[in-house]
Amino acid sequence: MQITVTVNGDEHTADVEPRLLLVHFLRDTLGLTGTHWGCDTSNCGVCVVWLDGTPVKSCTVLAVMADGRTVRTVEGLADGATLDPVQQGFVQCHGLQCGFCTPGMMMTARWLLDRNPDPSENEIREAISGQACRCTGYENIVRSVQWAAVNKS
Ligand code: FES
Ligand code: FES
Repeated sequence: MQITVTVNGDEHTADVEPRLLLVHFLRDTLGLTGTHWGCDTSNCGVCVVWLDGTPVKSCTVLAVMADGRTVRTVEGLADGATLDPVQQGFVQCHGLQCGFCTPGMMMTARWLLDRNPDPSENEIREAISGQACRCTGYENIVRSVQWAAVNKS
């Protein structure tokens, strides 16, 4: 099937298998490997991207379901050379260890802060509750999001 998806502002048209998952379309067809792939079963949350402005686990979405829609990935988070405050927060507060969960965490954090600029610790933890950090770095992930809330761009 031919699909056209706008990813981080750029329109991409490709022929894809109907069964291709969005995470694999992003990584393998478009080469956007910032979106990670951990389980394929909706458990780990490392594959979170925005679909029409809402975070989704991209292993639960077929690429054909994104036809005609917009996707934002971690590659679209920075504004040119200027990191998003969420990215800066992860740097400042050591919000990553191995980095496997980090892109998905940052996409959810940006979405949360866009809707709730001053979230409580519980609200941050609830927002990322569907995403696993194998390094168990949740303390610093929460601190990173709090840093971004204080240091808005
Ligand atoms: S790869 Fe999507 S939830 Fe694990
Ligand atoms: S930093 Fe390693 S999985 Fe989260």
